Amino acid sequence: MELRTVPYSPERIPQDQVVERLTQDFEVASARRTVRAFSSDPVPQEAIQTAIRIAGTAPSGAHRQPWTFVAISDPEVKRQIREKAEEEEKDFYERRAPQDWLDALAPLGTDFHKSHLTDAPWLIVVFRHDYELGPNKERIKNYYMTESVGIAVGFLIQALHRAGLATLTHTPAPMTFLREICQRPENEKPFVLLPVGYPAPDCHVPDLQRKPLEEIAVFL
Ligand SMILES: Cc1cc2nc3c(=O)[nH]c(=O)nc-3n(C[C@H](O)[C@H](O)[C@H](O)COP(=O)(O)O)c2cc1C
Repeated sequence: MELRTVPYSPERIPQDQVVERLTQDFEVASARRTVRAFSSDPVPQEAIQTAIRIAGTAPSGAHRQPWTFVAISDPEVKRQIREKAEEEEKDFYERRAPQDWLDALAPLGTDFHKSHLTDAPWLIVVFRHDYELGPNKERIKNYYMTESVGIAVGFLIQALHRAGLATLTHTPAPMTFLREICQRPENEKPFVLLPVGYPAPDCHVPDLQRKPLEEIAVFL
């Protein structure tokens, strides 16, 4: 197949400004926290649409873009999701979770109550396409789906944060009920559920420390 190209010359930032720019970005990024108490203050649909467009700019294996973002503001759909998520999570916390997992979650103060699923003005359910369905319903292979969708969700979380909006990266286990509620086809698997909105006025977050550079980076 013939390779078609287009010119590419992004803004060239002078070297002496690169570190300054990244330092400013680091300050913004490090102020992000996962929020578990949301205000019900509205967020315009256009804001959510634009954040999803940013997520859609993520790189993906073989450029397959193996993702669907389902954005939900309908209170009845949010109620259904909360009901099912709490059912699954109650079973997880009370029966299925091994003790080491419960110990790891203890400092976060999480339990099976998921009021954020109805408090937050938006829920974004991200689906990973395990394969694509061709015109005759044949399966077309995708590549590095998990990595690709993970990167796209990172873009989404950062974009929302930079616009002053909080998220919770929520992974109720199992999440299969989300496919039915969101009416997605069989090739799409729920990847993450992100409540999005403003933090509640009295919002507190766990007092966590992030690993310093020396612990997360090696320079050779
Ligand atoms: C893949 C993934 C799954 C997560 N699942 C949950 C979850 O189900 N419930 C929850 O309260 N937090 C969940 N979190 C949020 C983490 O607990 C949180 O990111 C971590 O404690 C660090 O806090 P920070 O995001 O404020 O830096 C998840 C995060 C990731 C990346």
